[in-house]
Amino acid sequence: MAERPRVLVLNGPNLNLLGKREPEIYGSATLADVEADCIAVGDRLGLEVTCRQSNHEGELVTWVQEARGAQQALVVNAGAYTHTSLALHDALRACALPAIEVHLSNIHQREDFRRHSYVALAAVGMICGLGPLGYELALRALAARLGAVSKDKEAIGSKA
Ligand code: DQA
Repeated sequence: MAERPRVLVLNGPNLNLLGKREPEIYGSATLADVEADCIAVGDRLGLEVTCRQSNHEGELVTWVQEARGAQQALVVNAGAYTHTSLALHDALRACALPAIEVHLSNIHQREDFRRHSYVALAAVGMICGLGPLGYELALRALAARLGAVSKDKEAIGSKA
């Protein structure tokens, strides 16, 4: 069987606190729940999904750099670094892989400082405000884009 396209799901600072952190904004699912869903959905879509989380900007930058040549696409929820990190923006551009930005909350409905995203400038698309479903939708879009061989009749572009 052909190798499955590899997708890295990156979560940034404070997303390790999901489930406990401001549940009225971010919901009750934990990071472990979100990551398990990503791997399960990826499996159905014919993707090999790896999940990583860090509270450190430099570590996220290093992982994006390492993705070049090792992964075919990225799903990125950079947390607050979304709004501040030129370094992450540059790393995403340098790695030249399709990236989809995800936010659990609707960043356009909150404080003004959340409306600007350095990640969006380097991403093919952005999903926000749909909670953990946003990660699944991003994986579905990437599976279609990468031509993954899906077991899922509901996959975008599926002819099954
Ligand atoms: C977030 C939105 C960011 O503004 C915030 O700093 C986060 C989480 C989200 O998933 O809604 O940490 O990325």
